[in-house]
Amino acid sequence: MALEKATGHDKKLQDRLIGSGDVPRHIAIIMDGNGRWAQKRGLPRIAGHHEGVNSVRDIVEACGQLGVKYLTVYAFSTENWKRPQEEVSLLMRLLLKALRDEKDRLHQNEVKLKVVGDIAALPQDVQDELLDGIEKMKDNKGLTLILALSYSGRWDITNAIQRMYDEIRSGSLKKEQITQELITSYLATKDFPDPDLLIRTSGEFRISNFLIWQIAYSELFISQEFWPSFRRKQLYEAVSNFQRRERRFGMVSEQLNKNESSGLDPLRGMERFLKSASKS
Ligand code: FPP
Repeated sequence: MALEKATGHDKKLQDRLIGSGDVPRHIAIIMDGNGRWAQKRGLPRIAGHHEGVNSVRDIVEACGQLGVKYLTVYAFSTENWKRPQEEVSLLMRLLLKALRDEKDRLHQNEVKLKVVGDIAALPQDVQDELLDGIEKMKDNKGLTLILALSYSGRWDITNAIQRMYDEIRSGSLKKEQITQELITSYLATKDFPDPDLLIRTSGEFRISNFLIWQIAYSELFISQEFWPSFRRKQLYEAVSNFQRRERRFGMVSEQLNKNESSGLDPLRGMERFLKSASKS
């Protein structure tokens, strides 16, 4: 199995990005605007969701080629269950079809599939397809694609607290052990690093109950494109914009270099990032 490589002009753009700074390790995306994309064209909302699948395919492929390690897409929120029954049902059918159609291609591209959310709430056939895909791709070494399905940040945190409560009651967890790292380890996203870059499409400045704990220090990028029009070109703009940011994690610029040389901290590589970003 081999990752399909970019070619021609696309390869040049990717090489330029890779050479001009750190590519985010983890990108998270709030895919918004499918309905409006369709409405603008006089189409039913589901047509926007259909075209949105093509954007997911393109972005997954481009992220893999760029060397992004984790991509989390907000495909269905806890709140989305409140949409009209017909749209929910069509979205579930679409998800099932997309999983069936894309599984082999994802596998060939060395993608590892993961899911976060209240999976038991999804239709049984969707659950089965997800589990099958996760199993099939479990040994792949390329991009980890995380589908957030029936997910919300508050759902995740509530779940974590309930499980901690049980363990405190049974005596296996002590109050003093509750640290930020411990809370992180109880979340559905425990196996993945926090997102470096959070992209939201359709020009809205909202988090919409996505990874509310995990994005504490993520860089935000708001794209004006509706999700079905958000393709690799727009992704490259977002990554390029990310590369021009200085991530200080609450500190001041001078400390970033110092921390790296002392080997202390989460900011390893930051000096390299700053140097190469200033060259570009
Ligand atoms: C938001 O647009 C989009 C969704 C709620 C669903 C996203 C689903 C897909 C792109 C398809 C399936 C995904 C995968 C991973 C294969 P909206 O409906 O809120 O748009 P609007 O704000 O314009 O109404």
